[in-house]
Amino acid sequence: MTRYEQLLQQLPQSPKVWLVTGVAGFIGSNLLETLLKLDQQVIGLDNFATGYQHNLDEVQGLVTPEQWARFRFIEGDIRNLEDCRAACEGVDYVLHQAALGSVPRSIDDPITTNAANIDGFLNMLVAARDAKVESFTYAASSSTYGDHPALPKVEDQIGKPLSPYAVTKYVNELYADVFARTYGFNCIGLRYFNVFGKRQDPNGAYAAVIPKWTAAMIKGEPVFINGDGETSRDFCYIDNAVQANLLAATTTDENARNQVYNVAVGDRTTLNELFEAIRAALKENGVEYDVEPVYRDFRAGDVRHSQADVGKGKMLLGYAPQWKIKNGVASAMVWYLKSSDIVQNMVK
Ligand SMILES: NC(=O)c1ccc[n+]([C@@H]2O[C@H](COP(=O)([O-])OP(=O)(O)OC[C@H]3O[C@@H](n4cnc5c(N)ncnc54)[C@H](O)[C@@H]3O)[C@@H](O)[C@H]2O)c1
Repeated sequence: MTRYEQLLQQLPQSPKVWLVTGVAGFIGSNLLETLLKLDQQVIGLDNFATGYQHNLDEVQGLVTPEQWARFRFIEGDIRNLEDCRAACEGVDYVLHQAALGSVPRSIDDPITTNAANIDGFLNMLVAARDAKVESFTYAASSSTYGDHPALPKVEDQIGKPLSPYAVTKYVNELYADVFARTYGFNCIGLRYFNVFGKRQDPNGAYAAVIPKWTAAMIKGEPVFINGDGETSRDFCYIDNAVQANLLAATTTDENARNQVYNVAVGDRTTLNELFEAIRAALKENGVEYDVEPVYRDFRAGDVRHSQADVGKGKMLLGYAPQWKIKNGVASAMVWYLKSSDIVQNMVK
């Protein structure tokens, strides 16, 4: 039995109080769903900057009324220390997801990204430290590898950041490390690599590639590939990321604490391969897309290749990613096809 399988059995026997920031977003709402299904008590904090009430409504429909009653939502902003303090009260484990994602957004507006991702992060660290939470697990990013050429990416070899977003995520790691050393505070950073799956927003200028292309194909619109399509990523299905969060938050192994971990699969998929994978998965569900993609310029700030070495997480956390890109894309497509109102941009 894996450590995660053990945890899934243990958690319902000894419910804890979890704080999920960014709970109305993609990763946050998936964490919420898993935790409620495990009969945990969850406090959620979000200001709906990029999150949606419909994500929370969907989770409500997937859990029992008793489980939903264990969720308390605070509409608040991590840039406000008092909101962070209110959310951290009585909490055992913090899963800090709230931030402004997207490299291009940070290039367009570095000040707003900095405020949420650095000021907000520091507020959360201070509030969680003062509330004496057991652990603080936070969303770091593979963008921290920047221009370092090594593949696969190993946690202690990073390069120079290539975007304001990458700077903010690296600063998070520096702050977490200093809080661990200075205050003995227990933080774990999870460097997500292109997480995808249900409830990831397909709309807007800053949508991630999988939901953006999926929506375009469903609507019969053109798909744009930045560059030659040979740019590659280690796409990580959401359930792997949820697993990493629960393992990190609950670890009692001193060696595993105060570290950063790659959260991915250890595979590499080019954008051209991704295009074909999404097209094939939609076809299996009866949606044909016969148009070829449109190639355009490379995008500023983008890393050329990305692939994780997930050995550290496997060894220290017992991380065992179950989902590969193919079955992840297949599962995600079912959700996008079911959620046509969201794909058609009728919400918000
Ligand atoms: N999705 C990925 O592939 C990926 C990769 C690397 C890192 N990350 C990180 O993971 C985290 C979650 O990302 P996601 O993909 O779920 O994005 P998301 O945009 O769906 O979720 C982020 C949530 O944070 C909330 N938020 C933003 N600013 C806030 C503020 N000031 N106060 C309170 N709430 C605020 C948003 O409203 C949203 O609900 C982020 O920290 C992101 O940087 C994501």
